[in-house]
Amino acid sequence: MTDEMFHVKPDLAASAHVNAQRHGLMTNHALNEPDSFWLEQARRLDWFRMPTLAGGGGFEGEVRLSWFSDGTLNASVNCLDRHLPENGDRIALIWQGEAEDDVRHVSFRALHAEVCRLANVLKGLGVRRGDRVATYLPMVVEGVVAMLACARIGAVHVVMFAGFSAAGVANRLRDSGAVLLLTADEGRRGGKRIALKALADEALAILETEGGSPVRQVLVVPVIGTPVPMRAGRDLDYARLVGEAEPDCAPEEMGAEDPLLILYTSGSTGAPKGLLHTTGGYLLWASLTQEIVFDHRPGDVFWCTADLGWVTGHSYVVYGPLSNGGTSLLFEGTPSWPEPGRWWRVIDKHRVRGFYTAPTAIRSLMREPSSVLAASSRDSLRVLGSVGEPINPEAWLWFHEEVGGGRCPLVDSWWQTETGGIMIAPLPGAVAQKPGSATLPLPGVCPVLVGHDGTVLEGATQGEAEGRLCIARSWPGQARTVWGDHARYVQTYFSTYPGLYFSGDGARRDSDGYYWITGRVDDVVNVSGHRIGSAEVEAAIGSHEAVAESAVIGVPHAVKGQSLMAFVILRGGGGGEAGPALEAGIARHVGHMLGRYAVPDRVLLVPDLPKTRSGKIMRRILRKVATGEHEQLGDVSTLADPTVVDALVARLGQ
Ligand code: WT7
Repeated sequence: MTDEMFHVKPDLAASAHVNAQRHGLMTNHALNEPDSFWLEQARRLDWFRMPTLAGGGGFEGEVRLSWFSDGTLNASVNCLDRHLPENGDRIALIWQGEAEDDVRHVSFRALHAEVCRLANVLKGLGVRRGDRVATYLPMVVEGVVAMLACARIGAVHVVMFAGFSAAGVANRLRDSGAVLLLTADEGRRGGKRIALKALADEALAILETEGGSPVRQVLVVPVIGTPVPMRAGRDLDYARLVGEAEPDCAPEEMGAEDPLLILYTSGSTGAPKGLLHTTGGYLLWASLTQEIVFDHRPGDVFWCTADLGWVTGHSYVVYGPLSNGGTSLLFEGTPSWPEPGRWWRVIDKHRVRGFYTAPTAIRSLMREPSSVLAASSRDSLRVLGSVGEPINPEAWLWFHEEVGGGRCPLVDSWWQTETGGIMIAPLPGAVAQKPGSATLPLPGVCPVLVGHDGTVLEGATQGEAEGRLCIARSWPGQARTVWGDHARYVQTYFSTYPGLYFSGDGARRDSDGYYWITGRVDDVVNVSGHRIGSAEVEAAIGSHEAVAESAVIGVPHAVKGQSLMAFVILRGGGGGEAGPALEAGIARHVGHMLGRYAVPDRVLLVPDLPKTRSGKIMRRILRKVATGEHEQLGDVSTLADPTVVDALVARLGQ
C-alpha cells in the first residue's frame, strides 16, 4: 500500500505554481547556477536595496553563513505595506476565538495600523534596534501584531509558547536578555484559563532573586479582561498605550543579515538553544516555501494549526501567508472543544483552502465517530499538509481520502526549527505522492544520507539507502547561530559529519529518490510533534529534592507518536510505601519546571539504571525494556552490571 502512487488531479496540476517541468528546471538551475537561482528567488521580496550577492557559505570551520548580505529590507513591509496599494482591504487575519461568535477579521490596512501603533509604543518605551522583545501570549491577534511590530523597528522577537511554565519562561528571558515582555491577563484553552500574567510575574521574580532581570517593562494585553496585579513602574496596559499611539511608523531599513527572531528548541544535551534567524534569508524561505508547497494564491485562506510559539506558527501562520498576501487563520481553540468536529466547522465557516496540521492531531481525530466528520462539507479545501513527525500510512490515507475527499494533494513536509521553513515535500502538481513519504527536496535543497562511519551513501542524492539525514549546502532559511553561543551551534550541527549540516533525524531513500523520515536518532523525543530533549526533562527531574538520578526515554504512542517515560533513582534507595505518591510528585515537578507538555506519562522509581562501565546511561536498553523487547537487547558487552536489566523487567511487569 505504501508504494501506491497518488497522482494529483490534472486540474490542479495545470494551475499549480510549480508543475513537473518547472520543478525540474528550478532544481537544475539551483544546482548548476546557485547564485543566479537564489538572486532570482530574492526578487519575490520587496527590498530597499536589492541584493547583488547571493552568498551562503560552507559548513567547515567557524560556519559563518550569510545570504543576500548587501541587501536591505524590512519584514513587516513585506507582510503589510506591500499589499496596501491594491489589497489594503483584503483580510490578512481571521481570528476565530474559542467561543463560536468570537471572530475578528483584520484587513491588511487595519493590521498595518495596529502594528505601527505598537511599534511606536515600543520605541517610546526605549526599545532599540537589535534589542530582544519576548512574548508570552495565547493565540490572539496581538501575538502576530507583536511579532511584526518588532520587525518594524528592528527588534528581535522571542516568542514563547503559552504552555511553558514560569521557570521555562525565566530561562528564555535570561538567555535572550529580553528588555520587554508582552503577556496577557489570561489565556483560554479548552474551556480552562491559563493565568499568564501570574506566571510571567513568577518568572520575573525568579530572575529578580537571581540578582537581576533584563526585562524593564511588561505590556499586558487584556485578552479576557480579568483584573491582574500591575506593578507600578514596570507593568503597562497594552490597550491604553496602543490606543493612544500614532498609526504610522516608518520601518527600519534592516540588513538582510540583521537578526529577525530567536526561537528556542530542545536538543539532545543541555538547556534549549536559541536559534537565530536573520531577516532576508528567513523571510525569503518562509515566503517561497509557503507559495510553492501549498500552491498558494493571493487571497487564499490558509490555516496552519500550529501555535505561534513554535517555528511552524512563525513561518506558516505569520511570515509565509502574510508576505504572500494570503489570509491567515488564527484559531484560539482546540480540535474537539466544546465538542468533537470543531476543526471541521472552522474549515467550513471560514472557507479554508490550505490546511496544515500535525499527524498527532490527525490520529486523534480519526478515532472520532465518522458522523463527526460527515457533518461538515470541507468543500473549500484544496491542499492538505502534515508536519512535525512521521505520518503513518493509515493516518495519511484517512487525511487524504476522508478529510480531503481524495481530491486534495497531501504535502508531508519535513523541516525543523533550524531550517526556517520546509525542506522536503511533494510540490502539488509536480511530485507524485506516496503515503508516509516526504518525497523530494525542494529546489536548492541538497539532502544526503550518511552512514555510521560518516560516509555519504550512494552518490549524494540517488539510490536506495538508509542513514542519517544531513544537508550538504546552505539554503537561505538556515539558522545562523545559537544565540550567545556560536561554538555550540558549530558543535551541535556541523561537528558530527564534517562539512555537512546534521539534522538529528534518520531517513531512508527509495529507488525513486524519495525520502522517508524515520525519526530522531539522538536523545530527542517527539511528543505530539513537540520536540523534547531527554536531558532537559532529566535535569528537571534531578532538581526534585528526593531524586538522585534519572533517565528519560520516548516510547511509541498510538496518538502522540511518542510519549515520555522516566526511570528515577531516589536518594537513599527505594520510595517504599510513598513510592506512587513520589512518582506523581516528580511528574508534577516536571510540569512546574518546564510546562505540562513535557510531563512524562510514566514515572517509575527503579533501584538502578543500565550503564556502561564508564558510567554512561544506556537509553537504548531502557527503550528495549520499555517496549517488551528485552529478549533482543543486542550488544550488551559494554553494560557494567547485566543484572540491572532483570530488575527493570521485573519492575515494569508490576
Ligand atoms: C523535528 C523538528 C518543523 C516544524 C515542526 C517541528 C520532526 C518534522 C517531519 C516530517 C517526519 C518530521 C523531525 C525534525 N519532523 N517534520 N514531515 N516527517 N518527521 O519543528 O520542533 O524543530 O522539530 O520534527 O524529527 O527533526 P521542530
